[in-house]
Amino acid sequence: MKVLVIGGAGYIGSHVCLEMMEAGHEVVVYDNLSSGLRENLFEGERFIEGDIMDAERLAGAMSEGFDGVVHLAAFKAAGESMTAPEKYARNNISGTVNILNAMCGAGVGRFVFSSSAAVYGEPAYLPVDEKHPTVPENFYGFTKLEIERLLGWYDRLKGLRYSALRYFNAAGYDVRGRVRGLERNPANLLPVIMETAAGMRPELRVFGNDYATKDGTGVRDYVHVNDLAAAHVAALERMERADESLVVNLGSEEGLSVLEILEAARRITGKPVPATIEGRRPGDPARLVASSALAAEKLGWKARYSDVDTLVETSWKVYER
Ligand code: UD1
Repeated sequence: MKVLVIGGAGYIGSHVCLEMMEAGHEVVVYDNLSSGLRENLFEGERFIEGDIMDAERLAGAMSEGFDGVVHLAAFKAAGESMTAPEKYARNNISGTVNILNAMCGAGVGRFVFSSSAAVYGEPAYLPVDEKHPTVPENFYGFTKLEIERLLGWYDRLKGLRYSALRYFNAAGYDVRGRVRGLERNPANLLPVIMETAAGMRPELRVFGNDYATKDGTGVRDYVHVNDLAAAHVAALERMERADESLVVNLGSEEGLSVLEILEAARRITGKPVPATIEGRRPGDPARLVASSALAAEKLGWKARYSDVDTLVETSWKVYER
């Protein structure tokens, strides 16, 4: 298939492009390089520098015709979304509307969307499956949920088929070492630990050690970015066979605490990785773990690289230089 990967120069997007090409698909990347990096562009793909707010440029790019679109161009800092909702509304919601309208204009009918576990909010039960109530705790999660709802309507009214992939905590780097670009100003746990190990920041701030979890720190479902990438390929290929949209969790189904990851990082890097315990971060649930049974059933997908050692080792290979 010929695939337009919007946000294909980003952290997850670059891994998706590699996986798509490995599966034999033709990749065109559309990215404004606001957080994407030129060094995340690979041989064999074509690059169009463009913004999703530029509806004309998007329509122009789409008009050459594609079998599918993968969309990963979004702001993802949940904390920032609470102080700058207009930025998230514009880019994440309006930007996606531009993409969908460009697709309708060009007759492109398959869409893979990077959604998030943030659509669920505070978990009412664990593991969280797709039937769990969706009550986002932050505006970022709201933007993802809004788009899922919009997709339901485009499916009904325009015949657009979509796969909304609700990622849990994306982490790790390409197991074959092909992605080398570091995220700028990361806020997520593993890159923060890696930056600390590499001496790029003085310490890790652990947000709370008084949760009702195994060691008091927050527990999350970390899913390796190569596993996420494989799910995008599976979702796209499934839409070619089955004329049906899908909303599905992508998680490892394993819960790892902040301290478990920190200890693995100290062991694997051989660095002290200083850490201080601070107060809880507002909006953080104690535990969040996925059920990925639906992904297994519909996509034949299962996380393969999401154990703590692989997450840390593949990241350290990139940060250690
Ligand atoms: C966050 C967002 C989520 C988003 C995801 C990907 C919230 C509530 N959720 O998930 O919507 O989809 O990022 O961008 O913001 N931690 C520390 N110190 C740090 C960083 C993190 O202790 O410096 C802890 C957190 O308290 C949490 C765990 O590490 O227990 C993971 O945090 P993080 O990587 O920020 O992801 P989430 O908050 O789970």
